[in-house]
Amino acid sequence: MFMTLILGIETSCDETAAAVVENGRVIHADVVASQTDLHARYGGVFPEVAARAHIETIDTVVEEAVLTSGKNWQEIEAIAVTYGPGLPGSLLVGVNFAKGLALGRSLPLIGVNHLEGHLYSTWLVNPEKPIEFPVVALIVSGGHTELVLMRDHGDYEHLGGTIDDAAGEAFDKVGRLLGLPYPGGPSIQKAAEGGSTTAYDFPRALPERPYDFSFSGLKTSVMRAVRPPHPHGGEKLKPGTLREGVNVADVAASFQAAVVEVLVTKTVRAAETLGATEILLAGGVSANRALREAFSQQTTLPVRIPPLKLCTDNAAMIAAAGFFLYQQGQLADYTLDVKPNLALTTYRGTSRGM
Ligand code: KG4
Ligand code: ZN
Repeated sequence: MFMTLILGIETSCDETAAAVVENGRVIHADVVASQTDLHARYGGVFPEVAARAHIETIDTVVEEAVLTSGKNWQEIEAIAVTYGPGLPGSLLVGVNFAKGLALGRSLPLIGVNHLEGHLYSTWLVNPEKPIEFPVVALIVSGGHTELVLMRDHGDYEHLGGTIDDAAGEAFDKVGRLLGLPYPGGPSIQKAAEGGSTTAYDFPRALPERPYDFSFSGLKTSVMRAVRPPHPHGGEKLKPGTLREGVNVADVAASFQAAVVEVLVTKTVRAAETLGATEILLAGGVSANRALREAFSQQTTLPVRIPPLKLCTDNAAMIAAAGFFLYQQGQLADYTLDVKPNLALTTYRGTSRGM
């Protein structure tokens, strides 16, 4: 097959990333500069700090991606960049950089939806094994929880999603509540080791809505279980102030089990009911070990989950999604603007109007 190399650029949140990917499936370079340490002291991403850090690192990151790919600029066929959803200032840095580069090097520009990027991170798993449609995909990140039926490239049916907090957001909020370091997901996974998953019977929400999720009640339940009695009312407790005798490992393990159970049950139900050939799992939360293990135990369908490095934000997934957009002529022009609230929408048979 003819080799098409796409340069991907991702700056939607707190990672500055660039990658070179062949035919949407084979990674030649994947560079991620994470700002986690910069934001840890704020207990979350500080938007202005993020945008400034992107400006400072983006050219080095892009240069390094092309250099380590072993390819030269003449071999790059197009530039794919995340234009939403995400933090406006952070997105602007990536989009403007990509526009300048595309213009300067006379290369086509492709605007990629960050959620579509996460979805396509699964195309980078077992590149030799084709993905047969339809598939059911669960995208679980810091800002999104989306259950999608994908009938073809660019053909998405939204089956359900969260009605309040995203799964990653729940991990981050409960992590903060327990006084664990940001981001909460990996911290809770670590804290849960050795804890009992049945020590607390936290709620599994929305049993009556087959494909929707809700995590804010779960967070409140954890809060009630761990916070000390509060005689004065009103005043705020410092994060990490816990009721005497609370076992953090047990709370973390029971909370994680509650999140995992609903994510797995609803996704497997959708895939089996709708005749999916396989399940795709993507987004930062798919790095969670308990979630990965639960999927493999609860369905006989194949489950495609990216390696840890491709679960959290990266540009290889943006280049992969970009390749399939490129193949279908879904190009952007130099008026491409950021869309901080972009949703995952079908583009098949349409012009995306970018
Ligand atoms: O996809 P991502 O890197 O950024 C967004 O697009 O949001 O996802 C970040 C989210 C955070 O909420 C983080 O706590 C969560 O993914 N996360 C995890 C794990 N690693 C990252 N959640 C649970 N377990 C993990 N091991
Ligand atoms: Zn993401």
